[in-house]
Amino acid sequence: MKIRKAIITAAGWGTRFLPATKAQPKEMLPLLDKPIIQYVVEEAVASGIEQIIIVTAGGKRAIEDHFDRSFELEAALEKKGDKALLEIIRRISDLADICYIRQKEQLGLGHAVLTPKDLIGDEPFAVILPDDIIESTTPCLKQMIDVYDRFRCSVLAIERVESTEVEKYGIVEPRAIEERVYQVLNVIEKPSPQRAPSNLGIVGRYILTPQIFEVLEETPPGKGGEIQLTDGIQRLLRRQAVYAYEFEGIRYDAGTPLGFLKASVEIAIRRPDIGEGFRRYLASICQEPVQNRLGVLQETATAVKKDS
Ligand code: G1P
Repeated sequence: MKIRKAIITAAGWGTRFLPATKAQPKEMLPLLDKPIIQYVVEEAVASGIEQIIIVTAGGKRAIEDHFDRSFELEAALEKKGDKALLEIIRRISDLADICYIRQKEQLGLGHAVLTPKDLIGDEPFAVILPDDIIESTTPCLKQMIDVYDRFRCSVLAIERVESTEVEKYGIVEPRAIEERVYQVLNVIEKPSPQRAPSNLGIVGRYILTPQIFEVLEETPPGKGGEIQLTDGIQRLLRRQAVYAYEFEGIRYDAGTPLGFLKASVEIAIRRPDIGEGFRRYLASICQEPVQNRLGVLQETATAVKKDS
């Protein structure tokens, strides 16, 4: 069966980005000039997904507005004759067939995936966590759909992580099948380095068979008192094969301030319009000792104070 639908989970609080996320969804924070969530919607569309279901929560209205038409803005741009910008704005609302469902209580990722069960129905589907931004020649989700098409079972995106970092990921116990492809023998959500069966961490892209809903309905709260998707997958693999795929591409953890910054910088240096100037600027500040720059900043601050 073709993978037609994707769930994007966007119901989290965004506590790591407070106060920026106090009154706006973290999924709307811009990487350069595009909100995080648009990157993953574009990845889904480029992978052949026909319908996207975004799981939201209270305070996430800006996401819906972003993918909706804005007639006032379009009229204003038309009046100004700014055809290029008009085209960009219109393209966003034509990107995909998107529907929204609210997760009324934040009971965990497993619960978030279970929320649109009836909208998915009895077919395999994709799950995307927008915290993980992946840059690649072939979209990451497309690579995974290709693996699904060959093996016809659930596929988890994985990446090697530092052994000190295993506590931040669902970790896979793998059995090698072929280059980049593993059968999953077990998964553990955020294990201690001592308990981790490998250093292959799950990244926020999944292809899941609809049987995941049956197991999630019976999955009790796990790590952090939340219903974990990883625990559901652990139950699923007792019933049917689950595979893991080491995708090709670079992943940024845009859910943390440092990862977000790295993604912003790398996206900026690759952008044709500003890339060159930005690279030159970065090279110049990297050559200068931090202390000197702080000195410059302090001098400026003192001058401003004197002036006022
Ligand atoms: C979630 C999952 C975890 C996975 C990670 C990927 O954790 O629970 O298994 O490895 O996403 O980004 P979170 O980062 O939401 O804590």
